[in-house]
Amino acid sequence: MGNDSEALEEIITGLRQDEKSISPKYFYDERGSQLFDEITRLPEYYLTDTELGIMRDNIDEMVSLIGKRASLIEFGSGSSFKTRVLLEHLDELAAYVPVDVSEEHLLASADEIRSEFPHVDVLPVVADFTHEFDLPSPIVMPLRNIVYFPGSTIGNFEREDAIELLRVMHHEAGEGGALLIGVDLQKDPEIIEAAYNDSAGVTAEFNTNILEHLNNDYDADFEVDAFAHDARYDEEEGRVVIRLISEKDQTASVGEEEFHFEEGESILTEYSHKYTLEEFEQMAESVGFAVAHVWTDSDDLFSVQFLTRN
Ligand code: TRP
Repeated sequence: MGNDSEALEEIITGLRQDEKSISPKYFYDERGSQLFDEITRLPEYYLTDTELGIMRDNIDEMVSLIGKRASLIEFGSGSSFKTRVLLEHLDELAAYVPVDVSEEHLLASADEIRSEFPHVDVLPVVADFTHEFDLPSPIVMPLRNIVYFPGSTIGNFEREDAIELLRVMHHEAGEGGALLIGVDLQKDPEIIEAAYNDSAGVTAEFNTNILEHLNNDYDADFEVDAFAHDARYDEEEGRVVIRLISEKDQTASVGEEEFHFEEGESILTEYSHKYTLEEFEQMAESVGFAVAHVWTDSDDLFSVQFLTRN
């Protein structure tokens, strides 16, 4: 994230659009990160448990595909259990390189990884991974780069941007490199919608917390209780559309600017795209990856895929 005035500009620009939107990166203040953690533990939120299960069930095969003396480059801060499963099993890693824009969070989680895995050369990089960035030089020369992108975070990018991101990952993987990526799959819409509308209301709180965050840190005055969580699966577009709906006619200000909301008007806060294996393969191939291996759970809810550079 840039500085605060840049961020304020970005927020205002989003709210000036015909369809008002707020970038999902503003979900993650301290409370938002806590709430997201809670989401990953909800019974309806199948993504995290299913991906972790796939990692655990297939770790030996994954480790052998990754090979020896790889540099593991994680897009995101790498605070997850899934990363730990990999690190526990990759005993000849050249380096572990977590990449994230949020320096504070990145360095804190890098320190944790260092203390849990003292033999691993942990080299955090502060960068916006949607653009190409420079890789550090580990003490041990890596034989290849493995980019790791768990969580189906690729699904939070619109299709065109997801392809751009795959292109960046292809670049960072370098010659002979590969990508290990979690991709959520299309399935019964009821299962998908339940994951974003949990009965305990944690997701609703997570969504409205984005307004709380703007109120606390970006000079906004949203009446948080006057916006309702809304998440529905658009089967045609293959994505969950997550919005906040204004429950009345109201005005809110952000910085110097006022925004009017009609009753029923929405603010888009996030998309979560779901893929078929075929569509994702096409996207991967369009940037020069070959799908070398796909692991799924027994219900085909989620996939973990190993893509190699050709
Ligand atoms: N990456 C997560 C996903 O797409 C983010 C997420 C989960 C989310 N639940 C949410 C975003 C609810 C907004 C609202 O599954």
